Amino acid sequence: MAYERKEISIESIRRQEDICREIYDSFVSQKNRPLAMVDTYGCQQNEADSEKLRGYLAEMGYGFTQDEFEADVIVVNTCAVREHAEMRVLGNVGQLNHSKKQHPDQIIAVCGCMVQQEHMVEKIKKSYPVVDLVFGPHELWRFPELLLKTMTSHKRVFAAEKSDGAVAEGMPLKRDSSVKAWLSIMYGCNNFCTYCIVPYVRGREKSRKPGDILTEFRGLVEAGYKEITLLGQNVNSYGKGLEEQIDFSDLLNLLCTVPGDYHIRFMTSHPKDASHKLIDTIAAQPKLCKHLHLPVQCGSDRLLQQMNRHYTIEQYLELIEYARKTVPGITFSSDIIIGFPGETESEAMETVALVEKVRFDALFTFIFSPRPGTPAAKMDDPVPREEKQRWFDRLCAVQNGISEELHRQYVGQTLRCLVDGESDDARWPLTARTAGGRLVHCTGDRAALGEYRDVKITDSNTWALFGTIE
Ligand code: SAH
Ligand code: SF4
Ligand code: F3S
Repeated sequence: MAYERKEISIESIRRQEDICREIYDSFVSQKNRPLAMVDTYGCQQNEADSEKLRGYLAEMGYGFTQDEFEADVIVVNTCAVREHAEMRVLGNVGQLNHSKKQHPDQIIAVCGCMVQQEHMVEKIKKSYPVVDLVFGPHELWRFPELLLKTMTSHKRVFAAEKSDGAVAEGMPLKRDSSVKAWLSIMYGCNNFCTYCIVPYVRGREKSRKPGDILTEFRGLVEAGYKEITLLGQNVNSYGKGLEEQIDFSDLLNLLCTVPGDYHIRFMTSHPKDASHKLIDTIAAQPKLCKHLHLPVQCGSDRLLQQMNRHYTIEQYLELIEYARKTVPGITFSSDIIIGFPGETESEAMETVALVEKVRFDALFTFIFSPRPGTPAAKMDDPVPREEKQRWFDRLCAVQNGISEELHRQYVGQTLRCLVDGESDDARWPLTARTAGGRLVHCTGDRAALGEYRDVKITDSNTWALFGTIE
């Protein structure tokens, strides 16, 4: 099915920025600066979107708060990937009637993946009168217009039309960190894994132009960002549908020509499209982190087929083996779903066996959650939840043992890490990441924040390393 790649015109974005100025001007007579709160659920893509929402809000003159009782505008950026994520959002949105009672002019907006589903919009319309504005991911670029409409009409505004989505360039951004930055290289997904809601709520896969990515990337390096993470649901299919002949490895090579003191991470790599060329590129480019997040989902070929994943366990293991041979010291992380409809205990144990074989450095594990509208939600799912939980606990116990062993091997080594964050724990005031992405709780001078430093690893546990900045 051909899909036409659409872009929102730059004039349309400029028009949104004009609206930001209009809102800004309306605050001039106000004594106190208005405040906004942006609450984010879900993946890095949503974190990146929230930085755009904050960018617009900052242009409108808003300051930021984490306290809902203080906020004049609250934006809840939601996720739909599992039922648990949706329940948390709805619970927290329900709670906002307390702040709204104290502050009747408060505007409450709900955006993101969850509200790109018709049944959710209906639910909010009916049962969450506290919500004033609802807009889906495809409308994010026109948030200022929608907010102004909500402010002036004093009516509830709903904007979550069916759409394949479009690429929008030139939106303002307010980044959370000055050390690490997200950089979306593509949006949407075409893979339709049978359990997954993302293609339905995020629209068709569309790549940003390499020139636009390069410009943003250069800006980040010049601004002193040290870690730039390229984002896409399947970065390995970057470039499809563009006029330029370019694939993901070509894009990485292009970005690595930018001089500076930084490194690049990327996620997510779909195993069906992860090529030897990509792995050769990781080996050849010192600026690329020696780490691959390569979600396998399960250890059984029958289930992989049911999931519509388009690779076999043999192909997956071949990739891992090639990467280990080609990129010494490479680390791997993965996602796993336990309890896909029809999974048997012996299939779940095939997944556990795969995990034991690969020895992932980190694993994100989930119990299958039926998503309305996806094929898997209609499949026969006879295994009771408690049984799935048992398999899940078994998997987690195995992975925890592996993580603990792998982490112990770091103790005594001195590794070059990026000191990337501060913590409230006085014993370990700083956090750092190894080249392979392992978290290190550090002692040391806060002046090291944002710098590459040698860290001597002194201790470890299942979840992290501990060390001293030298
Ligand atoms: N595009 C990425 C994943 C995005 S969603 C990829 O293909 O790898 C992140 C993870 O959530 C998935 O890898 C999967 O493990 C999990 N997930 C997605 N839908 C789910 C569902 N319905 N139930 C449980 N886990 C799910
Ligand atoms: Fe979902 Fe599959 Fe697309 Fe990932 S590749 S977002 S799991 S449909
Ligand atoms: Fe959730 Fe949407 Fe990301 S469904 S995982 S926030 S793309």
